[in-house]
Amino acid sequence: MMQLFPSTYFTYKNNKLYCEEVAVAEIVKQTGTPTYIYSKNYFEDAYKEFDAAFGEIPHIIFYAAKANFNLSVIKTFLQLGSGVDVNSEGELYRALKAGANAKEIILTSVGKTRNEIKLGLEHDVLMIKAESEEEVILINEIAASMNTVARVAIRVNPDVDAKTHPYISTGLSENKFGVNSETALRIFRMQSELKNIRFTGIDMHIGSQITSVSPFVEAVEKLSNLFMILKKEGIELIHFDIGGGIGIQYKDEKTFSVKEFARAILPTLKSLNCKIIFEPGRYLTANAGILVTEVLYTKKNQNKNFLVVDAAMTDLLRPSIYGAYHHIQPVEIDKTKKEIVADVVGPVCESGDFLAKERAIQKSVHGDLLAVMSAGAYGMVMASNYNARRRPAEILVDGNKFSVIRSRETLDHLLFDEVKVLK
Ligand code: LLP
Repeated sequence: MMQLFPSTYFTYKNNKLYCEEVAVAEIVKQTGTPTYIYSKNYFEDAYKEFDAAFGEIPHIIFYAAKANFNLSVIKTFLQLGSGVDVNSEGELYRALKAGANAKEIILTSVGKTRNEIKLGLEHDVLMIKAESEEEVILINEIAASMNTVARVAIRVNPDVDAKTHPYISTGLSENKFGVNSETALRIFRMQSELKNIRFTGIDMHIGSQITSVSPFVEAVEKLSNLFMILKKEGIELIHFDIGGGIGIQYKDEKTFSVKEFARAILPTLKSLNCKIIFEPGRYLTANAGILVTEVLYTKKNQNKNFLVVDAAMTDLLRPSIYGAYHHIQPVEIDKTKKEIVADVVGPVCESGDFLAKERAIQKSVHGDLLAVMSAGAYGMVMASNYNARRRPAEILVDGNKFSVIRSRETLDHLLFDEVKVLK
């Protein structure tokens, strides 16, 4: 049975899909397809809900820009008081362009280049999260050459199973992220020798799309023990960063609310008496966005139905790379059309180019519009130009208004500076 994704931000009025108060079909009439459409009120409500859940303790949310780094999206969160967690010089650049102060930025990445560390220090970001002893030594060296003191957190890998897709699980000892507790202790204890570093925090991020609170509880427990050991030794940290990873509903997953999340970890967090940092990405953005695509062709091979649409793995990679489920529903419901089971596939020359497999969906014809739901996180940011496809436009809806927050790429964008060298 075809199901409609439940949402208060994407609803049907007279069988037509709306984002807030704007008809989706009206938007794409102007922008074409494929196009990402985001609900500004979703971003705002999700942020406020998260913030309020932890109202009892001093905390800061650093929106993980990797989930959706459109400048207008980052700015929406900044205006609510958020900071930004950046993972590269490119994301740092974006955060600054969106209007963030350096003090509202924290710098992550398991493999920061010398240049990225230098940039972080030049801008004087709130903290750099180091992921190895070698990196700590390099940060100290670079900070010394710049006559400054770097504020550094150590990312600890708490070795807990986040029970999520292996590609997005990051807190197991077999994963590349962070250092184990013993190594972290050893590094923190180097504080007196590291003249150009001040350890200000301890950090974790155990994975993404986590749908149960227990891995968080376990990891927070482990890290708080470490935090207390350090405190006893006179290494007073001011930040305890628990990363992001809160799961959302794509299909019928049973997720937890931020209130439940808070209830589970607040007692431990309170005992730390320091500022708690959160880095949610998906939670704030995934269900704020859809990808709208047009049906190009329908066909049947053997007994299999295919809907060939104009969006591809280049626009939304998640189904191809993780086998991720995204709900797909018609932009206009037509109850006279029967339901079929079909693969929804894109124009790219790969069998892995699909948005859905064996999906119950309204029988569509050429020109019908489909909405791929829950596409606000890790959608546009993972888009590529494979097959020399132009990346989609992005739209932000606010009440009864919408604006183009990034136009569809032009053919010239695809060439960049290649033309210059042609004789
Ligand atoms: N902080 C750090 C250090 C991270 O590495 C991430 C995500 C986050 C915060 C935000 O996590 P979130 O709250 O969004 O789960 N492309 C994958 C997800 C990769 C997540 C990478 N790190 C996907 O499409 O599912």
